[in-house]
Amino acid sequence: MEKIKLQTGSNQNCDIFVTHNLSHTPTFFQEYIAPTRRYMAVIDEKVEQLYGDLFPFEKIIFHADETNKSWTIAGEIIQQLIEKQADKDIFLLGIGGGITTDITGFVASIYKRGVDFGFIPTTLLAMIDAAIGGKNGLNILEFKNMVGTIRQPQWIYANTSFLKTFSKDKLYQGIPEMLKVFLIDGNDYFAAADFLVRQYNGELFATEEEVQQWIYFITKAIEIKCGFVRQDETDGGSRRLLNLGHTYAHAIEHCTQQYTHGEAVGIGLIFAAQQGDFPHLNHLIHTLQSCHLPCSLPTNLTIKDLHAAMLQDKKIKNQRLPFIILKDVGNVTFAEKQL
Ligand SMILES: NC(=O)c1ccc[n+]([C@@H]2O[C@H](COP(=O)([O-])OP(=O)(O)OC[C@H]3O[C@@H](n4cnc5c(N)ncnc54)[C@H](O)[C@@H]3O)[C@@H](O)[C@H]2O)c1
Ligand SMILES: [Zn+2]
Repeated sequence: MEKIKLQTGSNQNCDIFVTHNLSHTPTFFQEYIAPTRRYMAVIDEKVEQLYGDLFPFEKIIFHADETNKSWTIAGEIIQQLIEKQADKDIFLLGIGGGITTDITGFVASIYKRGVDFGFIPTTLLAMIDAAIGGKNGLNILEFKNMVGTIRQPQWIYANTSFLKTFSKDKLYQGIPEMLKVFLIDGNDYFAAADFLVRQYNGELFATEEEVQQWIYFITKAIEIKCGFVRQDETDGGSRRLLNLGHTYAHAIEHCTQQYTHGEAVGIGLIFAAQQGDFPHLNHLIHTLQSCHLPCSLPTNLTIKDLHAAMLQDKKIKNQRLPFIILKDVGNVTFAEKQL
């Protein structure tokens, strides 16, 4: 099992474990679950159906949908915690994809002014991105992540075996976030893109070598994100580079229900690449297309609609909207648009 230690500026420690074997799960719990403590889980209902037996905790079942990453549902979860007499010493687990980890992290940050929590991400996107770094949030009026806190989970247990219950297309919705971190970091972009396209055209996780490659790229992506979080936990500086593609992505998500977050990030990467005259734009588009990911806006959506949605972006300060521009592999910079 791979272990990455994330220690942040606020001195919160998070241990991140990456493994591929489902049978590691009970052993992991034996080590990390204190027998005398009360553990309660907010669990994605699909994950409960598929893997519920693996998680011997009191559970609050959550239907993972962007519209449920809301005040109303966060309030309902808090109400259930109160009804179940959850005290300040509980340990809250978020088990599921990024929608589930986001709302669980938010609830854990505010319930009784904050309780300990941990994540078991079960989607690729949550393993490499959403569960990592302590940012959590809720959508308001269909605008993404308009409220939130930054607070680190104590541990994250990422088991890539959970990914086997996805169809290839659903799994690959997390791929743009993976390409994003490798584009920013520079080192593994071409190798990762090549591997991901080959896996898309073949059978996923078919050989031990392929399993090990998935673990390698997932662990690398996590390490890259951790590097930014260590330097800039509160997102005032370098961590903002991880928003590559996201100004467009969030506006696309706001304007249409047609694309998931990951798919919208893929289109956002293309916009960021066009803005930066990225010399490998064709390679990027070819990679996304080869993984059956969308590369253009839905036909009923115009750039004008997107710009209108961007006016509500949470990153706007002094009427300036920040963008991250992709200039080359490993070369991203900040830019701003005056509104
Ligand atoms: N906090 C952060 O730093 C951060 C970073 C990136 C994204 N996000 C947020 O993450 C969210 C997207 O997360 P996501 O893509 O994981 O979506 P998600 O949580 O909706 O999960 C996608 C789908 O997969 C299903 N699912 C989950 N695990 C499964 C499994 N093992 N097998 C089969 N199906 C499974 C879920 O029920 C859901 O239908 C967005 O709200 C985005 O804003 C947050
Ligand atoms: Zn994202």
